[in-house]
Amino acid sequence: MTQYRIAPSILSADFAELGNEVRNVVKAGADMIHFDVMDNHYVPNLTMGPMVCAAIRPHVDVPIDVHLMVKPVDRIIPDFAKAGANIISFHPEASEHIDRTLQLIHDNGCKAGLVFNPATPLDYLLHVMDKLDLILIMSVNPGFGGQSFIPHALKKIETVRAMIDSSGRQIMLEVDGGVKVDNIAEIAAAGADTFVAGSAIFSQPDYARVIREMREQLAS
Ligand code: DX5
Ligand code: ZN
Repeated sequence: MTQYRIAPSILSADFAELGNEVRNVVKAGADMIHFDVMDNHYVPNLTMGPMVCAAIRPHVDVPIDVHLMVKPVDRIIPDFAKAGANIISFHPEASEHIDRTLQLIHDNGCKAGLVFNPATPLDYLLHVMDKLDLILIMSVNPGFGGQSFIPHALKKIETVRAMIDSSGRQIMLEVDGGVKVDNIAEIAAAGADTFVAGSAIFSQPDYARVIREMREQLAS
């Protein structure tokens, strides 16, 4: 049976209450914390860096899933590993040497992921499948929370699911952007097992209820 994971994106949390927010969302049933890093260069927004990751680390015992939307990417990786990240993912367009960046993440003791924007071709996967722990399919253009799910991401998720299955490797298939209670079942049916949700969770007063409703959809 598929092991599903819900990864709340703290991009939509109350930054002035971040310690409480991450504790509450883990208590509400989060499987990991999705940590969006934006640099106002690779994407048009500026968020959090390794210092914030280190600050939340003592408050949660679930993995911290760092999504790097930065360019260049390599020099910040050791800092995130030291800050307690467990998974580090990056966009192939932001790395000069994708294979080297994946190796760097592993050398720093973290799991490694590759992220695909809506228009980024999957060809980047061809020669690196054996180095991946996670593949992240963006279902919005990166930079902001609260955008709508782009439906053609479903086809891409199906294609990646087939690639993962034929590789025989354990690779998480994560989807990020516009994931809600009312579309999570369809996204899971396409083959995803790990779901980032920012606004869907943090815009509601009861995080546990949203996460429970998502799991009910996944179970049905
Ligand atoms: C977008 C980020 C997402 C974002 C998702 O660039 O990578 O993780 O927080 O937010 P929602 O779930 O609101 O689309
Ligand atoms: Zn993200």
